[in-house]
Amino acid sequence: MRFKDLFRTKSLDQFDDEYREPTKGLKRTLGPVDVTALGIGGIIGAGIFATIGTAAAGDPTRPGAGPALILSFVITAIACGFAALCYAEFAAMIPISGSAYTYAYATLGELIAWIIGWDLIIEYAVGNVAVAISWANYFKTLVGGFGIVIPDWISTDYRTAAKIPGLLESAPHLFGVPIVVNLLAIGIVSAITVVLVIGIRESANMNTGMVILKLIVLGFFVAIGFGYINRGNYHPFMPNGWVGVRAGAAIVFFAYIGFDAVSTVAEETRNPKRDLPIGIIGSLVISTLIYVAVAAVFTGIIPFDALRQKLATEQAEPLTMALQYANIGRWSTVFVGIVAFGSVVAHTAVLLVFQMGQPRIFFSMARDGLLPRSFARVHPRFQTPHVTTILTGVVVGVCAMFFSIDEMVDLTNIGTLFAFILVCIGIIILRIKDPHRPRAFRAPLFPFVPIAGVLSCIYLMSGLPTVTWIRFGLWLVVGMVVYFFYGFSRSGLTGKSL
Ligand code: ALA
Repeated sequence: MRFKDLFRTKSLDQFDDEYREPTKGLKRTLGPVDVTALGIGGIIGAGIFATIGTAAAGDPTRPGAGPALILSFVITAIACGFAALCYAEFAAMIPISGSAYTYAYATLGELIAWIIGWDLIIEYAVGNVAVAISWANYFKTLVGGFGIVIPDWISTDYRTAAKIPGLLESAPHLFGVPIVVNLLAIGIVSAITVVLVIGIRESANMNTGMVILKLIVLGFFVAIGFGYINRGNYHPFMPNGWVGVRAGAAIVFFAYIGFDAVSTVAEETRNPKRDLPIGIIGSLVISTLIYVAVAAVFTGIIPFDALRQKLATEQAEPLTMALQYANIGRWSTVFVGIVAFGSVVAHTAVLLVFQMGQPRIFFSMARDGLLPRSFARVHPRFQTPHVTTILTGVVVGVCAMFFSIDEMVDLTNIGTLFAFILVCIGIIILRIKDPHRPRAFRAPLFPFVPIAGVLSCIYLMSGLPTVTWIRFGLWLVVGMVVYFFYGFSRSGLTGKSL
């Protein structure tokens, strides 16, 4: 093994050839509206519907932002904005489905590319585990409104169940062991996997429909909730100072993840050089406006002290909780039902987009030889990466049966922030190494934007708990072992002179 092989890069010209190679490619069918909708589909979900309660109230390990949750959203949007501009530059220049993994391969070398690819599993697959678990919560609430009771032992994981008095005792037992598995979560993941194998066009259409619905429902929440705002609830605005705002920002970062998923459909977009920047930046801007409005209404309805006294399970469904608190009168149950429905739809769209992103990253890594070549197979009829789509479905579904949501959200955030940092660094390196390469989109104010992107992501990472850093470190160590025992020798670049 030669040390310099670890930093071998795949030239942009090689990527260009691959991108034009018709037989290896996926089906190009998406336009600018589709990709922007995919961005919004991937962004608005569990973050706004499930995590803002904890971000505003805090939990035993971190202080809450209080009404300054609005600031947490703005700060996070700025950090994501820097990263989005860098993603847009890369996506327009290297329109290959591997997203940040591919960009790193072209700039920072194979080892870093592998680390990012491995890290993106945390963003997409682990992120989706969190969303699937949250989906199950809201689905249970939704059907509960119609009098259908889904037992807890098929809609939660064992460790969460152990914290709820009496739940383990009431579950069925096998050889004396209580059976608690989140079957709802694996059910939705399986259904989404089937849609994704059938086709990208079908998946995009389904996503666009769900995006329209979720925007209507969040608009509805803002419109109804606006009348119930009590201005006194905004004082004190920052009950825990900047520490609370930063901790809140580190949590609600989850709500923004997804704009970058647009880059994973680069090979299925008709005019990626124009449409990917539109999709990435457009979806982020639209989502930010909605988030700030929802956060302002949410914290205006419910006072900080009342919010802190709510149970963690109530905080996990903050928007319906706020409407219940507002005590709207005889329409209250209907309004809560509408928001719960919107939430289920929003979660489903996120699941769809993330389940779409992960296989395409595996697909690119396999095409480069860092994962088994069979992962790069395209279905002869549907023209989708079916092997990796099914693999992702199985892994996410099985994990969602057993893991708890909080661990998954924090881990997703740290992994994604790390990927954003490397993308921003990649932009700096490529501008220096290859300044004259045509760039269909250029991140403005170079080098301010990428440097500010790196610093702001580090700031958000510093708000995450130590245990999350440890888990993340362990994940990277496992990744290094896989690379050195598998990918390094099988890489498509092995044996090529550098
Ligand atoms: N941004 C996605 C969500 O909030 C992950 O569900």
